[in-house]
Amino acid sequence: MATSSSILGKLLSLILTVTFAASINPVILVPGDGGSQITARLNKSSSRYIYCEKRTNYYYTLWLDISQITIAQNCFVENMRLIYDPKTRRTLDSPGVDVKVPGFGKTETVEYLDPWKEQFTSYYYHIVNRLTKLGLSRNVSIRGAPYDFRRSPNEFEEYFKIFKELVEETYKTNNNSKIVLVAHSMGCPTMLYFLNRQSVAWKDKYIRMMITISGVWGGAVKPLRLMVSGDNLGIAVLKQNVIRTYQRTASSTAWLMPYDTFWKADDILVSRPGRNYTVNDYELLFHDLNYTTGYEMRKDTENLVKDFRPPGVEIHCIHGVNVDTPATYQYDEGFPNSDPKIIHGPGDGTVNMQSLLGCLRWKGKQKQSIYHYTIKDKDHLAILKSQQLLDLIEQIIKKKRF
Ligand SMILES: *[C@@H]1O[C@H](CO)[C@@H](O)[C@H](O)[C@H]1NC(C)=O
Ligand SMILES: *[C@@H]1O[C@H](CO)[C@@H](O)[C@H](O)[C@H]1NC(C)=O
Ligand SMILES: *[C@@H]1O[C@H](CO)[C@@H](O)[C@H](O)[C@H]1NC(C)=O
Ligand SMILES: *[C@@H]1O[C@H](CO)[C@@H](O)[C@H](O)[C@H]1NC(C)=O
Ligand SMILES: *[C@@H]1O[C@H](CO)[C@@H](O)[C@H](O)[C@H]1NC(C)=O
Repeated sequence: MATSSSILGKLLSLILTVTFAASINPVILVPGDGGSQITARLNKSSSRYIYCEKRTNYYYTLWLDISQITIAQNCFVENMRLIYDPKTRRTLDSPGVDVKVPGFGKTETVEYLDPWKEQFTSYYYHIVNRLTKLGLSRNVSIRGAPYDFRRSPNEFEEYFKIFKELVEETYKTNNNSKIVLVAHSMGCPTMLYFLNRQSVAWKDKYIRMMITISGVWGGAVKPLRLMVSGDNLGIAVLKQNVIRTYQRTASSTAWLMPYDTFWKADDILVSRPGRNYTVNDYELLFHDLNYTTGYEMRKDTENLVKDFRPPGVEIHCIHGVNVDTPATYQYDEGFPNSDPKIIHGPGDGTVNMQSLLGCLRWKGKQKQSIYHYTIKDKDHLAILKSQQLLDLIEQIIKKKRF
């Protein structure tokens, strides 16, 4: 009697587990700018720096390996930068550098930014960990979709092709369950661009909803600093005018600059003695920087999602608030090589408020609902490990099942 009831108990709990697991939709994680690992194999005929490695017969970690970035920052930048081809209007990898984004379809390379899983480089780890507690499994019902974040969606043909296949495959291998997309930062407009180009039938069949975190919907002022003086990202030993060489050549930096549909014509974004630059002065700004390539890249990318068509899927839009966010950079005579004075405004520390709120513009413009949540005092990245966010995602995913 005791035996049969315990067998019954085990059976019951097995059935409950299976039902429970099956009722949670699979998740695909789309990272933001800097949120994918990048590896490189070198076969360079020359380097500007005698101490830089020119050949490797293996792929090594280009992004993110803090010791390499800090100790050999010139080598890092030389290998990480892109070369713009004005004829094709596309970017090329640095000569002799063969770049790969590892781990597509897996979670590992988006859980931590460095392969040694240093705690301070944790990225989607906390979300993945929570999802496993809900019954989802790494690499099976939680998938990662890393990409080459140095570039913009106008160069993502191949990525979107394999991304679409990943959605369809994950749907099939999870008993035809629709996918929950989770995107962070630049991943949000990247997914908007993708969804804008899928049929209604495809989205209805495969996508359950999209959860967007810290979405940079209409650009942000911070990328302007990357273009002007460079930004050492708070790492003291990193020289901003060295790292700037990479930051300027990334077309994603140009793409993520503020949009004139989100900023007013008299908002001063960058200033220096005798000149103010607004969202309408990018041509002049790049001219003054002697970096007109930046303006070409801006022209290539500024219209990618500017019409801001609704994504046509249910949206859960989450972001931090109440964190000082760069709104204007004031340079002195040392422009563009000096440290700017920063005038702050509202936002999440990286993305300005009006841009974070972009998702609300679709309210009433699509039949699927738009839900909006804010998390106080959590900045652009810290939000990813906050208890509030993890609880919120759990609630959203558990409540909305079919
Ligand atoms: C797969 O889905 C079908 C239909 O929704 C359901 O009846 C079945 O229990 C599911 N199987 C598993 C293993 O989740
Ligand atoms: C490295 O580059 C040289 C010259 O461009 C080429 O001849 C050689 O085949 C390349 N080696 C590899 C392993 O790709
Ligand atoms: C997921 O895939 C990665 C890369 O292939 C592997 O190292 C890891 O062990 C896998 N995780 C699980 C839980 O299967
Ligand atoms: C720049 O803007 C400031 C603040 O509005 C204004 O005082 C200043 O005169 C402007 N400078 C130029 C050169 O337009
Ligand atoms: C741009 O080039 C001009 C002419 O060569 C030079 O006078 C100016 O200082 C340069 N400006 C910057 C920001 O490098």
